[in-house]
Amino acid sequence: MVAASSLALPRAAVPCPARSRAGLRAGFLGFAPPVALPAQQLRCCASSVDDGVVSAEASKPRLPRVVGMGSKLVGCGSAIPTLSISNDNLSKIVETSDEWIAARTGIRNRRVLSGDETLRGLSVQAAQNALEMAQVKAEDVDIVILCTSTPDDLFGGACQVLTEVGCINAFGFDITAACSGFIVGLLTATHFIKGGGAQNVLVVGADALSKYVDWTDRGTCILFGDAAGAVLVQACSADEDGLLGFSVQSDGNGQKHLNAVTSNDESILSNTNGVAGFPPKKATYSCIQMNGKEVFRFAVRCVPQSIEKALEEAGLPASSIDWLLLHQANQRIIDAAASRLDIPSDKVISNLANYGNTSAASIPLALDEAVRSGKVKSGDIIAASGFGAGLTWGSAIVKWG
Ligand code: ACO
Repeated sequence: MVAASSLALPRAAVPCPARSRAGLRAGFLGFAPPVALPAQQLRCCASSVDDGVVSAEASKPRLPRVVGMGSKLVGCGSAIPTLSISNDNLSKIVETSDEWIAARTGIRNRRVLSGDETLRGLSVQAAQNALEMAQVKAEDVDIVILCTSTPDDLFGGACQVLTEVGCINAFGFDITAACSGFIVGLLTATHFIKGGGAQNVLVVGADALSKYVDWTDRGTCILFGDAAGAVLVQACSADEDGLLGFSVQSDGNGQKHLNAVTSNDESILSNTNGVAGFPPKKATYSCIQMNGKEVFRFAVRCVPQSIEKALEEAGLPASSIDWLLLHQANQRIIDAAASRLDIPSDKVISNLANYGNTSAASIPLALDEAVRSGKVKSGDIIAASGFGAGLTWGSAIVKWG
C-alpha cells in the first residue's frame, strides 16, 4: 500500500524556483493547482466525426501556463513479446496474403503475447528501461500512469506495475483511451507536474489487443499486435519546458465504428430461491468490431487538424517539426497526414511494418526505437498524435530531452 505521506510531499529531485514547498504540498495532495485550468478548456472541438468536418471554430485560446514550471521527457523504454507472427503466418489462418496486408496497411509482422508473458511484464520492462535511461531511481517516481485498454485486471494494472518496478513512493492509476491513451497520459503527467507538484511521472502505454481480436476476421486480425512503451516525464524550469502543446478530443458518436463492448452471459447462479431478476448476468467483452473504412476516413481527416491545434497551442509552425510520430495504425494514414501537413517522408517515424497496431504502446515504442537508434536527438521537436476507439484523438508537440 502507498503511504499517504509519500503522496503529500514529492521529493525535490529537480529545483522548482517559482513555487513554495507549501504550494507543492497542497497541489499534489488535492490536485488543486494554484492556477486552475478550467476543464472545458482541455477539449478543443465538439463537432461530430460523422459531420465530415471538424470545425475550425473549435480552436480555443491557449491554456494559461503555470508560470515558472515546465516538464520534459528524460527517458524512454519499450518491451515486446517474443512471438512474431508474419503476414504469411496469418494467411494460413484466414484468407489473406502478405501482398494484400502490406499494400493496404504497411504491416508485415506483429508480436503477440504467448506462454507466461503478460502485459504487466511488458509494462514493467518498458518502465525499467525508461528509468534507466533517465537515470532516475524507482523510489523517486511520484506517479505511474498506465495507459491501456487491456489490463490484466479489470480494476487496472498501474498498481502492480509500480510495485514490481519498485516505485514504493508512487501513486498509480490507469487511463483508458484506446490508441490515444499515451497522449492523454502525457497530458495528465504534465498537468500533475505543472499544476500538482509532482517531480517524476512515469507514463506507460501498453496494450494486448491480441486477446480481443477475432482471429477468424481478416478485416481486423491483420492489424493488431502487443507491446509496451514508457517515458519518464520530469519537472523542470519553464525555459526547459519540453511538453509544448496539446490537443485532445473525443466523440462518442463514432463508437459504432470501433468497439469491443461488453455482452451479458448467462447468470452464474442457477437458483435464486425466488429472488426475481437477480443476480445480474456475468459480463464478457466481445472481440474488436471495426468499420475500417470509417475509421480510416476519421483518422485522415482529424489527425492533421489535431496536430495543427497542438502546434497552435505550442506557438510553433508546422515547419518546426523535426519528426512526425503518429499512432502506428496504417502506413496509408501516416502518409496522408504527413502529406496534408506538408511534412517530407524522411521526417516521418514508422515502425508498424514490424509490430502492427499496438494501440497505446505504439507511440512510445516507436519513440524508444527512434531515440535509441540515434534518429531522434536531444532538442528535436516531435509532433505525436494518437487516434482510435472512443472515438478519441489527440496530439502532443514535445521536445525530446
Ligand atoms: N485480406 C484480403 N482481403 C481482404 C482483407 C484481408 N485481410 N480484409 C478485407 N479484405 C477484402 C474485403 O473483403 C473487400 O473485398 P470485396 O471488395 O470483395 O468486398 C476488400 O478486401 C476491401 O475491403 P475493405 O475493408 O474495404 O479494405 P480497406 O481498403 O478499407 O482496408 C483496412 C481495410 C486495412 C482495415 C483499412 O480500412 C484500415 O486500415 N482502416 C483503419 C483501421 C485503423 O486505423 N484502426 C485503428 C484502430 S485503433 C484502436 O483504437 C483499436
